[in-house]
Amino acid sequence: MCGIVGAVAQRDVVDILVEGLRRLEYRGYDSAGVAVVTEAGELTRLRRLGKVKELSDAVAAQPVAGGTGIAHTRWATHGEPSERNAHPHVSSNITVVHNGIIENHSPLRDALKAKGYVFTSDTDTEVIAHLVEEELKAAGSLLAAVQKTVKQLHGAYGTVLMDKTDSSRVVVARSGSPLVIGLGIGENFIASDQLALLPVTRRFMFLEEGDVAEITRHSVSIFDKDGNAIEREVHESNVSYDAGDKGQYRHFMLKEIYEQPHAINNTLEGRLSADSVLDETFGNGAAELFKKVKHVQIVACGTSYHSGMVARYWLESLGGISCNVEIASEFRYRKSFVQPNSLLVSISQSGETADTLAALRLAKEAGYLGSLTICNVAGSSLVRESDLAFMTRAGAEIGVASTKAFTTQLVGLAMLTMAIGKYNGLTAVQQRELTDALKSLPAKLEQTLALAPQIEALAEEFADKHHSLFLGRGDQYPIAMEGALKLKEISYIHAEAYAAGELKHGPLALIDAEMPIIVVAPNNELLEKLQSNVEEVRARGGILYVFADADAKFQSDDTMRVINVPHVADILAPIVYTLPLQLLSYYVAIIKGTDVDQPRNLAKSVTVE
Ligand code: M6R
Repeated sequence: MCGIVGAVAQRDVVDILVEGLRRLEYRGYDSAGVAVVTEAGELTRLRRLGKVKELSDAVAAQPVAGGTGIAHTRWATHGEPSERNAHPHVSSNITVVHNGIIENHSPLRDALKAKGYVFTSDTDTEVIAHLVEEELKAAGSLLAAVQKTVKQLHGAYGTVLMDKTDSSRVVVARSGSPLVIGLGIGENFIASDQLALLPVTRRFMFLEEGDVAEITRHSVSIFDKDGNAIEREVHESNVSYDAGDKGQYRHFMLKEIYEQPHAINNTLEGRLSADSVLDETFGNGAAELFKKVKHVQIVACGTSYHSGMVARYWLESLGGISCNVEIASEFRYRKSFVQPNSLLVSISQSGETADTLAALRLAKEAGYLGSLTICNVAGSSLVRESDLAFMTRAGAEIGVASTKAFTTQLVGLAMLTMAIGKYNGLTAVQQRELTDALKSLPAKLEQTLALAPQIEALAEEFADKHHSLFLGRGDQYPIAMEGALKLKEISYIHAEAYAAGELKHGPLALIDAEMPIIVVAPNNELLEKLQSNVEEVRARGGILYVFADADAKFQSDDTMRVINVPHVADILAPIVYTLPLQLLSYYVAIIKGTDVDQPRNLAKSVTVE
């Protein structure tokens, strides 16, 4: 988490840094700061509690200028969100910004205090500033001091430092948290994500684990973890940043919900023939690999984990192979059994989620046939480090609550099911039906979005509720989980999801008129079972909100509100039924007046474990 931007230029870089932070706000938004140094060695630092807007207002009110600078937007790990804990942190001439966690900050802090260093914040970051100052006493340069310092740090970090006595350079180090160098003409930049630097350059070098780099206006020198000078490839970026504008929408989340038909069109484009998935869809060598695959292990977090759960139903029922799905933070810390001929599939919107990335790295050592990532961000760590990548092409997702990233992941996973299934008994007729179904999806989603006014009206009934239950069966169970996550994430209403058959094993005890029960009920082979579960709730005085196929014959009455969702092929139902739940969360959050796009305590990209 946390976003970093830095620049070494002849011109004033403050506006570049603040704009960069605005674009990185998805990484954290509890406080922000900027520090610049002039050629004369004057350092100015400005920090504010709250979002980047607070900082940009402060910059406007109290102009600062300098050609070398670093800036940061924070998601607190050590020390509460406050101005004194906001980055940049300073130790005498050294100024630092940092993303990640220094796990051994406590003994380092004690040792530095014993040497007389005075700490002015509660952060783990401040130890970096003091350590570099200490090392600089003996080292000949800021670069050498940083190289010595990073050897003492345990944990994950991306960090950028400058020395006000030498404004010609910044030094950066990457270990676990992404950093990308942006190459300009007579000026160079550094950031956590290329998005931050797109206004100034399209040429990027991605730092690798353990790299330390010295950046001046005219040069970039990179050293690997052993201190050897090393070259990193220059990439020309074609990433677009279309996130600045909410258009006609009040929030990015709503815009992104409505973008789903278009996003899915993009996901499908050029990947389907008349009757199957094209071999090239998953990249060079995918077909050869898929022929051998007999098991899929999925790792992901949050919403992406829910899409993996849906995929398990598909891969086992249609793809003809076994599949495990595990939360990446659990997978990475247990010894798991690797099934023969297993493919490791990571799923991630950002491609930078620390736990998912760690799970991929572990799996590389563990004997998997290969790795595939289903990801939305080109050039992200997961994409670069996986053998194969399926880009979801959802476009930039700015709202912290994931919407179009989720449904485009599901489309990718449906195509993966077809691509693997064709070697495991998925017939030509089935492939043709699935192809037709996927092609019809954008239109079905348009029809589903037309339910918004009904859902908005329904949301009124949730505003005073404190708890809720979401129910589904089969591949709708993960959709119930996703619906519950959306509601708690943006409306702060406690929500839990259950496989509807589990109700009688405990949760039925919770049912009363104050506990809304949301049910997703497409007309599939589990409908009758689900209807029985609905009756169990009604018999105990529960109030139900049922999203159902018109054929499912649920009737609205005093205890049940029914919203009819367009009828779709089974494979599409998890995708289509997601939309009403997204809209419900959105409208409940609006009524409750929460910060929809940037809910409290969260960040879009979770780059710390
Ligand atoms: O970028 P990723 O898909 O790896 O992120 C995983 C989760 O952090 C993310 O899906 C999170 O759960 C969303 N905020 C949920 O809306």
